[in-house]
Amino acid sequence: MDSLIMEGGVPLKGTVRVSGAKNATLPILFASILFDDTVEFENVPDLRDIHTTAKLLEMLGFIVNFENGRMQVSPKSEISPEAPYDLVKTMRASVLCLGPLLARLGEASVAMPGGCAIGARPVDLHLSALEKMGAEFTLDGGYVKGRCQKLKGAHIQFDFPTVGGTENIMMAASIAEGETILDNAAREPEIVDLANFLNSCGAKITGAGQPTITIQGVSRLKCTSPYKIMPDRIEAGTYLIAAAMTDGEIRVEDCPYKDMEALCSKLDAAGVELITDGNAMIAKRKANILSAVDIVTRPHPGFPTDMQAQMMTMLSVCTGSSVIEETIFENRFMHVPELVRMGADIRLSGHSAMVRGVPILTGAPVMASDLRAGAALVLAGLCAGGNTTVERIYHLDRGYEGMETKLQTLGARIKRIKGSQVE
Ligand code: UD1
Repeated sequence: MDSLIMEGGVPLKGTVRVSGAKNATLPILFASILFDDTVEFENVPDLRDIHTTAKLLEMLGFIVNFENGRMQVSPKSEISPEAPYDLVKTMRASVLCLGPLLARLGEASVAMPGGCAIGARPVDLHLSALEKMGAEFTLDGGYVKGRCQKLKGAHIQFDFPTVGGTENIMMAASIAEGETILDNAAREPEIVDLANFLNSCGAKITGAGQPTITIQGVSRLKCTSPYKIMPDRIEAGTYLIAAAMTDGEIRVEDCPYKDMEALCSKLDAAGVELITDGNAMIAKRKANILSAVDIVTRPHPGFPTDMQAQMMTMLSVCTGSSVIEETIFENRFMHVPELVRMGADIRLSGHSAMVRGVPILTGAPVMASDLRAGAALVLAGLCAGGNTTVERIYHLDRGYEGMETKLQTLGARIKRIKGSQVE
C-alpha cells in the first residue's frame, strides 16, 4: 500500500486547478445505463472510484473509453442486471445502478453495499421509494434483487434528504411512466449537475436543488454533445484550508464557491480571507492567527459532512475551543485518534468533538481510515513540525486527483512512497 511522506511547515503558495467532482461524476456515469446510444463526458477526474464505476459498467455490458478526462460509455447489445459483490464492496455508490437498471431492464440484482468505515449507511430509503414506483425487492445471498413491470411515477416523501436516494429516483423516474414528485429531496449541487445532464439529453426534471423535484418520464434519452462535469467543491475546500493552515496563499481555479457558502462563511469567521476572481478563489489568512468556530454538519446548504475532518484539523491549531457536531454519519470521527497522536487536543462525546486549539502539531506516522479522514491527516502533516507519514492513502486516491502533485506545485515537501518501500 502506498503512503505519503511529508515535511511540514512550508507555507503553500501558487495556483491549483480543481478537478471534476467525484460525487457528481459517479451518479452521472451510472445514468449512462438509461441510454440506448453513446454518452460522452468531459472533466472526468482520474480517480479510483471512477475506474471502479467504469469496471462495473463494463461488467453490466457497456464499452467504456476513458482518456484525458473524456469518457464515452456505449451499450453493447445485451445488458446484465447484476452488479457483483466484488465491485460493490469497494464502492458503496455502486448502489446507484439500482434505479437505472430497474428502469431500463425491469430487473436488477445489486450486492448489498454493507457497512463501511463511516457507519452502517443503509439503503432502505432507496428501496422504499422504488417500491412506490412499482418495484418489488427480495434479499437473496447478500444481493438486493428487484423486479418490476415498467416503473411508474409516484409521489415520494423521503424521511431524510438522502443524496444517493434522490439520485437513484431521479434517474429511474426520468424514463418511468408518468410523473414523479420527490419531496424532502437532497439539495446538493451534484444533484443539480445530474439533473442538468439528464435534461440536456431530453429528460424533464424541474426543481433540482430545491426540496421538491418533479420528473416527467420520457420514452428515450439521447446525448447530443459531451457533458462537462462540475468542479469538486470538497477538493476546492480542502485547498482553501491548506492555504490557511500553512499560512500561505493559494489561488484555487475552477472553484465552485457559489456552492460552498457554508464552508466559506466558517472560514471567514475563523480568520481566512477569501477573494473571488472570476471562477477562482484566493485564500490566505487575514491576520497572524486563526480563531475557533463551532460547526454542525447538515445536508446542503448546511455545512458538508465531507469537509468536517479537514475543518477539524484546521481548528485543532486555531486559538480557542471549537465544538464540532456530526449529524449525518455515525462514526465519522475516525481521524480524531490520529490527530491526537500528532498533538491535537480533541475530546469526543457521542456525535460531538470538543477541539481545543494547540500552537503546533507534531509529525507522526498516521493512518487514513477513509477518504476525508485521509485529507485531514495530509493537512495536519503539511503544517506540523517534522515529518509525517500518512499510510493507506488508497482512500485518498478514491477522491483527490493527483493530490501530491498538486501540493508539490504549491511548494509542499511531499512524496508518495510505493508500498514495497515501506512494507
Ligand atoms: C453522499 C456522498 C458522500 C456524502 C453524503 C452526505 C456520493 C457518492 N457520496 O453519500 O460523500 O458524505 O452524500 O453528503 O455522492 N441513509 C439511510 N437510508 C438510506 C440512505 C441514507 O439511513 O436509504 C442515511 C445514511 O446512513 C447516512 C445519511 O442517511 O447516515 C446520509 O446518506 P446519503 O445522503 O444517502 O449519503 P450518500 O449518498 O451515501
